Amino acid sequence: MKIPQRLQPLVEDGLVDEVISQLMSGKEATVYMVSTGDHIQCAKVYKEANKRSFKKAAQYQEGRKGRNSRRSRAMEKGSKFGRSQQEESWHNAEVDALFKLADAGVRVPKPYGCYDGVLLMELVVDADGDVAPRLNDITMTAEEAVKQHTELMVHVKRMLCAGIVHGDLSEFNILVDAHGPVIIDLPQAVDAAANNNAKKMLIRDVQNVTNYYAQYEPSLSETRFALEMWALYEAGELLPDTPLTGEFIDSSGEADVDSVLQEISAAFEEEQERLDRISSADAPEE
Ligand SMILES: Nc1ncnc2c1ncn2[C@@H]1O[C@H](COP(=O)(O)OP(=O)(O)OP(=O)(O)O)[C@@H](O)[C@H]1O
Ligand SMILES: [Mg+2]
Repeated sequence: MKIPQRLQPLVEDGLVDEVISQLMSGKEATVYMVSTGDHIQCAKVYKEANKRSFKKAAQYQEGRKGRNSRRSRAMEKGSKFGRSQQEESWHNAEVDALFKLADAGVRVPKPYGCYDGVLLMELVVDADGDVAPRLNDITMTAEEAVKQHTELMVHVKRMLCAGIVHGDLSEFNILVDAHGPVIIDLPQAVDAAANNNAKKMLIRDVQNVTNYYAQYEPSLSETRFALEMWALYEAGELLPDTPLTGEFIDSSGEADVDSVLQEISAAFEEEQERLDRISSADAPEE
């Protein structure tokens, strides 16, 4: 096909030879199948900020460090330089996360690099060599659902061990190839240690995936992997090979509420007795 303008610089630099087809155009990016020599790749062209719904950027960017302080200050101020730095940090966030996650053993497309707002990465394909479908586009048996769900929980755990929460994980951002689920679309990935919303996002990510697979195997909706993982992570006890059960015992259950209420009323009674003693001691003697 005709080379789209945003891919022109990559063609000129020899990073891309030919643009084979457009895979799709979403809210944040347009994705193409491209070739370099006899190698087929995927090129994700980010939309410019003003054409993009910035997905509550502040919530996601909290705790994300600019690479130097001038850059961070500019990003905070929102100057023109700041906006372009924010743009760059958004693009870099995805390629950085992909490199980190590939290293951590998470199934993501292999990244090749990010150039001029274009992310080049492995094209995920199915058993026939066609572009892999999204999880949302396939059906499966209950057994397959349990298998894929278990695998994804392992990947989410490895991600958390690498300090990353996806932040937008769902059946639309998971592709399924011949070996199972592959996680994509990470520009909003959040820093698990520095972002106050990380726990909330992890719970939502796991909930989305679990709800989806629970259509095929309803018992999956009883699992509580996010809370289990987060508790271990916070305690510094989560390792890539830590076994997970999907069970989580809530330590703030009803029994605890009762005992706290009992403590409060006991303290209240004690205080009343103390006040009574003081007032009877102060009372003038008859
Ligand atoms: N590495 C890849 N291999 C194959 N297909 C891909 C790859 N990356 C993205 N796609 C396809 O392009 C679509 C959009 O990619 P992605 O989710 O990263 O971008 P997006 O603009 O955030 O999309 P959306 O707004 O729909 O979430 C995916 O749903 C998938 O079908
Ligand atoms: Mg997406």
